[in-house]
Amino acid sequence: MKIVGLTYDLKTDYQFKEGDPEDANAEFDHPSTIDVIADAIEANGFRVEKIGNAGNLLERLGSLRVDIVFNISEGLSGRNRESQVPAILEMAGIPFVGADALTLGLTLDKVMAKKIFIADKIPTPKFFEVSSKEQLSSINHHKFPLIVKPRFEGSSKGLSESSRVQNKEELCQQVEYIINSYKQPALVEEFISGQEFTVAIVGNDEPEVMPVVQIKIDGKLKLNDKFYTFARITSDRLEYICPAKIPAELKKTLNELALKTYRAVECLDFGRVDFRVDQDGRPYVLEINPLPSLSTEDVFKLVAENVGITYEDIIGKILNCALNRYNLN
Ligand SMILES: Nc1ncnc2c1ncn2[C@@H]1O[C@H](COP(=O)(O)OP(=O)(O)OP(=O)(O)O)[C@@H](O)[C@H]1O
Ligand SMILES: [Mg+2]
Repeated sequence: MKIVGLTYDLKTDYQFKEGDPEDANAEFDHPSTIDVIADAIEANGFRVEKIGNAGNLLERLGSLRVDIVFNISEGLSGRNRESQVPAILEMAGIPFVGADALTLGLTLDKVMAKKIFIADKIPTPKFFEVSSKEQLSSINHHKFPLIVKPRFEGSSKGLSESSRVQNKEELCQQVEYIINSYKQPALVEEFISGQEFTVAIVGNDEPEVMPVVQIKIDGKLKLNDKFYTFARITSDRLEYICPAKIPAELKKTLNELALKTYRAVECLDFGRVDFRVDQDGRPYVLEINPLPSLSTEDVFKLVAENVGITYEDIIGKILNCALNRYNLN
């Protein structure tokens, strides 16, 4: 029986520091999520060895006996935090599930990812970056609304109702908040009103694009000014509709763009692309997640069930994609 190591970061591993924003540990998993994933891997006929975070992996590296690692570790700090476990595994010659360090570093940094999207003609909202308060005085942007996000975070960290700004004063306030609280540059994007979708993908040579999921907020599909915030994730004001009830043409466009984005940043085994579509039907890629949440509350379980397979099946599919890449099947 093959042994699958599991690397992850637990919410409980994060020690809050003074001045940390309340969502500082938002990307990390609940112990119950790790158990659910471990059970799903075992349901596919493997034995699971729980390893833990990058620090735990380093401590055990010399004596680790696993055939492959299923990595869902987000890393504790820095813009290369998601790359840390994959880089250690690559160095040690241990096969692992999912994208490698380069892809994870590139996509966690939304500015770098957007440069790739632009080079590959993948539509993404227009943006600029502000890395210091001093830079703010020279900004003469006249087109509002804008949205202000941290440059390298996920899980809607740093996003609240004040992230959508309508004028220069609000822009300055929010940029300052991001720089001070998240200790990183602010990414400022044009705010796309309209609808929101997310598309999950599984596979490598011929990746399978899963049914489009639409995000409903406060009971509305036409979101206009509404968007996903940290507070909404834990509220019941957010719903996933799968499959999205959209015209075939939009579905085709989203599928093609999701696949193009997946390939542009060289995702492996699985990933998820987030979109907004404006009121004229123009799609924009907000970001690609090469390490999307596999929690059963997130979209992977939903899309699996929509195509008639179970959560355990989709976890097995992702793992088998990786085993095939390494000729371990
Ligand atoms: N340019 C934009 N226009 C409108 N809404 C946006 C824009 N950028 C982000 N949002 C809203 O903010 C949410 C989070 O943004 P984004 O996906 O870029 O960040 P994230 O924190 O990495 O996401 P995730 O929660 O998927 O990890 C989006 O799902 C969307 O609702
Ligand atoms: Mg997102």
